[in-house]
Amino acid sequence: MAAEKPLIKEIISQKAEGQEVTVLGWVRTKRDTKNLTFVQVNDGSCFASIQVTFDKDANPSNEIETNLKKITTGTSVSVRGKLVPSPASGQAVEVQGLSLEILGDAPADSYPLQKKNHSFEFLRTVAHLRVRTNTFGAVARMRSQMSFAIHTFFQERGFQYVHTPLITASDCEGAGEMFRVTTMNPQKIAEEAYEAGKAGKTLPEGAAAAFADYNNDFFGKPANLTVSGQLEAETYALGVSRVYTFGPTFRAENSNTTRHLAEFWMIEPEMAFFRLEDNMDIAENFIKYLINWALEKCPEDMAFFDSRIHPGLIETLKKVSSSDFARVTYTEAMKELEKCADKFEFKPYWGCDLQSEHEKFLTEEVYKRPVILTDYPKEIKAFYMKMNNDGKTVRAMDVLVPGLGEIIGGSEREENLERLENRIKELGLEKDDYWWYLDLRRFGSVPHSGFGLGFERLLLYVTGMTNIRDVIPYPRAPKLADF
Ligand code: 4AD
Ligand code: MG
Repeated sequence: MAAEKPLIKEIISQKAEGQEVTVLGWVRTKRDTKNLTFVQVNDGSCFASIQVTFDKDANPSNEIETNLKKITTGTSVSVRGKLVPSPASGQAVEVQGLSLEILGDAPADSYPLQKKNHSFEFLRTVAHLRVRTNTFGAVARMRSQMSFAIHTFFQERGFQYVHTPLITASDCEGAGEMFRVTTMNPQKIAEEAYEAGKAGKTLPEGAAAAFADYNNDFFGKPANLTVSGQLEAETYALGVSRVYTFGPTFRAENSNTTRHLAEFWMIEPEMAFFRLEDNMDIAENFIKYLINWALEKCPEDMAFFDSRIHPGLIETLKKVSSSDFARVTYTEAMKELEKCADKFEFKPYWGCDLQSEHEKFLTEEVYKRPVILTDYPKEIKAFYMKMNNDGKTVRAMDVLVPGLGEIIGGSEREENLERLENRIKELGLEKDDYWWYLDLRRFGSVPHSGFGLGFERLLLYVTGMTNIRDVIPYPRAPKLADF
């Protein structure tokens, strides 16, 4: 099968000796000269298209001429021809067409990608077709390659891949930004209530109650889409030592920015016996490994991003991969920010959450490289982070990168039962909801640490794309779930 239907990526890496090949793909362009017609065919297996030439005089049939006339951008074709060295620059081989079959046409007056150089805004409205463009084909291949790199990194280091649930009853980050999962139908209940009201009846028993009462719901209690697989990952780390999750997470935060999605993918490693310093080391190595993978395994796509999307990208990434990240406490960073307080719209003060203007300033002006910020005030971090002896700060770490800001958030975890219970109480969370999580501190508790890397943030960083909606196939954001 593969031999008969090779990908264009495979065809162009062959030695051209006049052998017959079949090219399957979508036409990018067609160009006529006096004697020849040139057709560029792309199948998305690699950045390059393959050039097929049809010699008007040598054409063995009229069928080819007829079909060539019908071809427009987007037409899907099957071509048989001879693979020969190409006289044109920029390509080693080309195909001399011997037969041409049209598999599906793409009428010029209605195919949305007929023109070249559409804006990314427009392409978001045709997200089902945009993968056929250079940019989105390259992004698709990078997503796939980076996923493989992530698994390889952890598998090479003895980590187990663990599948944590997407539906959960607990709020990992304690921020309450969750999507409710229910089989209850508010519309039906409202209609019943309305009809009952019209008829002058009191609400039928069970109608209002069914809506309000999660005992009657599918899970018998409120359930949500997960914001993080961390809590469950911790349970596995405390049994098989090193684990990672890699899956979708959901946040109902009303953030209409170029860095936030309501559905995004997150990688969350969790390591037993790791302290914050070990956590920082592995996070830094991980980012550098992923950068090197992109540069070494995806040179064509990266060359495209470097030349067309973000000039200087490759140079910057190379520099990052060969230099040390700055490691700074929140308190030290705050001193730097306060020195230049006038620069900021939001005045920084000890205890405030960092705004993106602050993150930008630290990474781009002060340290001029990625920064790992640690030991944040407990008030702005989640309940599970290990308390420092000062009683004010926690063993948190965020990795910030120039041009983007936060790419990783993580911490050493509180492994002491009493201190963890106190934090849960202080934050007004329900202890009973976390009984199983607290059990980890009752039975064989050990120091442990972990972090979360936002997969789409990583892709923005590595590709130089600027809007997070352009590095996931079908973005979900407030008022956006079109496809
Ligand atoms: O900092 P966060 O909220 O940390 C956690 O969820 C921890 N439970 C992780 C852990 O320690 N296991 O999120 C982690 C990362 C962020 O640094 C960011 O890269 C990404 O997830 N992220 C988002 N990406 C896209 N859209 C959003 N709305 C995101 N929120 C967080
Ligand atoms: Mg965070």
